[in-house]
Amino acid sequence: MARKRKGEGQAALVTGASTGIGVDLAECFAKDGYDLILVARSEGPLKEVAMRLASKYKITATPIAMDLGAMGAGQKLANEIKSRGLFVDVLVNNAGYGIAGAFAGSDEAGQLGMIDLNVRALVELTHVYWPKMLAKKRGGILNVASTAAFQPGPLMAIYYATKAFVLSFSEALWKESEGTGVHVSCLCPGPTVSEFRARAGTDKTKLSRVGKPMSSASVARMGYRGFQRNDRVVVTGARNKLLAGMAPLLPRGMVLSMVKDLQSPV
Ligand SMILES: NC(=O)c1ccc[n+]([C@@H]2O[C@H](COP(=O)([O-])OP(=O)(O)OC[C@H]3O[C@@H](n4cnc5c(N)ncnc54)[C@H](OP(=O)(O)O)[C@@H]3O)[C@@H](O)[C@H]2O)c1
Repeated sequence: MARKRKGEGQAALVTGASTGIGVDLAECFAKDGYDLILVARSEGPLKEVAMRLASKYKITATPIAMDLGAMGAGQKLANEIKSRGLFVDVLVNNAGYGIAGAFAGSDEAGQLGMIDLNVRALVELTHVYWPKMLAKKRGGILNVASTAAFQPGPLMAIYYATKAFVLSFSEALWKESEGTGVHVSCLCPGPTVSEFRARAGTDKTKLSRVGKPMSSASVARMGYRGFQRNDRVVVTGARNKLLAGMAPLLPRGMVLSMVKDLQSPV
């Protein structure tokens, strides 16, 4: 008789699952037998991911196309999930975007939209599912922040600030859930191959010329393993770990100058 997979009978909701790290995170959960609810705006790619993972791993995968940056989207998604008779054991808050450049002269909608998606939607979904996880004493939350979370980011100020929020919020919940059986991990990738950098404009910064970006598959695997171990923070790769570990120890002025230089156009 085949051995029962770790996630069988559980469902993971993965946001930002039409491309990039979210697709690979969804695959990690699917491989272990979790059913999936996949969310992003692009319906076509989302359906393709759902069909591929469902047939490859013999799980159920439900695509729901939705703009999570819209006001109240988190609650709207939760209502949609409930109306379909689905449930969520693990919440993977992965959807996010960044915009490179000085804050002065930036597009207001783009800047506020980052807060709505990277922070507001993440908090809304967590607020819905967190109490249910604690009551059931299982499941948990995997939040995707960034190495940007460890210091302020001149020339990408709002993005860095949103990720600092995600890291701080995640660590606080990790402590609140201690001893409950509910897991909370904050995945902090450094530069990773995906559509993110072209969308954010960070492919033209000095930072983009430093080292080789990691693959989204390896980043996702590290995040998934860290979540299963209930690691509070998962920084991907030795170089990123070193930089994230050094940032709070160095004089803040020096860190700000370094980041501003790295975020400057080539
Ligand atoms: N790549 C990196 O270098 C890097 C480094 C550190 C952290 N991260 C973080 O990793 C996470 C995933 O990024 P990625 O690299 O995989 O980027 P990506 O390839 O651009 O994927 C982003 C995902 O989020 C979805 N998304 C964007 N806006 C959305 C919205 N308004 N509503 C619902 N879904 C939305 C996108 O789908 P649609 O466009 O179809 O909606 C896509 O599925 C993000 O939180 C990012 O900040 C990335």
